[in-house]
Amino acid sequence: MDGCKRIGILTSGGDAPGMNAAVRAGALVGMSLGMEVFGIERGYRGLLDDVMAPLKPADVAQILREGGTCLGSARCKEFHQREVRDRARAVLAKRGIDGLMVIGGNGSLTGALHLANPEEIGDGAPLKILGVPASIDNDLGLTGFSIGVDTAMNTIVEACDKIADTATAHDRTFIVEVMGRDCGYLAMTSAIAVGADLALFPEAGKDPQKIVDQIVETVLTIRKGTRKARRVIIIKAEGVSIPVDQLKTAVDARLREAAGVAGDAEEGSIETRVTVLGHVVRGGRPSAFDRLLGSRLANVAVRALHAGTSHKMASWMPPVDLPEEIAARSPADPYCWLVDLAAVLAETENLLSGKSPLARWRAGAFNDIEDALLL
Ligand code: F6P
Repeated sequence: MDGCKRIGILTSGGDAPGMNAAVRAGALVGMSLGMEVFGIERGYRGLLDDVMAPLKPADVAQILREGGTCLGSARCKEFHQREVRDRARAVLAKRGIDGLMVIGGNGSLTGALHLANPEEIGDGAPLKILGVPASIDNDLGLTGFSIGVDTAMNTIVEACDKIADTATAHDRTFIVEVMGRDCGYLAMTSAIAVGADLALFPEAGKDPQKIVDQIVETVLTIRKGTRKARRVIIIKAEGVSIPVDQLKTAVDARLREAAGVAGDAEEGSIETRVTVLGHVVRGGRPSAFDRLLGSRLANVAVRALHAGTSHKMASWMPPVDLPEEIAARSPADPYCWLVDLAAVLAETENLLSGKSPLARWRAGAFNDIEDALLL
């Protein structure tokens, strides 16, 4: 297998804290191996517009601590079209770039796989691609963590701790909505870390009525209880089927009804408050873990491109037994694996549809903890 001599690095899709660590490590390791490294701006959009420049050590010297991505990012829907990918391949061929490290999530890595599809390349210039998982959603299969997840979790925990202070002072119920697209990982894990009273996540597959019932039951149970802190914190993943404003309206109506019957609640404690954390969850300086993760995965990815490997994703998993045709442990790092990219994307679909053992485990493990929370 011929190793790559000139590679491009791009960040694509929703940015994730720690992407800069991956860009920095990719550039520095690539240069140290004697490769030329180009930084491509704004993901696939910049690739199509041929906006790229060779990276020098000085370009990446100060970026490790910064959130977002120094290369910029974009969502590029046109990349689903074959003729658009042909244009991208022509740009890479013109630049003499024979390897691409794509740092991004599900959509970005799917784009990479299509870009390097040998049937589409035909007699064109060969192209090797390596993916690096980066998405706060943690919705990619066959990696324990994607870059950005740890920082996002910490951001949610910090925000919820603050909300808990004011909620306790006013004896209130808060519904806090967190990002995660169709994946409930951030909602489940941060609910545990925050000591929330309830987490709502799409994998549970509950219909809106069941969700309203569950919240009302939780609030009433806690209010009747003997706990000193009478605040209620509910974390809702954005992918849950009912919009948060509708949820609030429905829950408030039921709580008023219940209070009217019981006649034991003052106004302030009946009405819920809603905080949508939104894009706050995606920003901020990367945690130490995300800096390490980004650096280590990119190190492995760039070394793989240099060795002539392609169609893989650098993945973070403990040393476990995996079939060789799917995953090989990186010689450069015992916690990093080179996993077949097509297998990653197939497993991602299973994860999001709730079919994979991991998705079932996540939801089941959370439900066990949740039952204990409300004892
Ligand atoms: O995939 C990352 C993510 O932040 C999701 O959690 C969220 O649903 C989405 O991106 C938001 O995308 P945009 O920034 O394009 O609105």
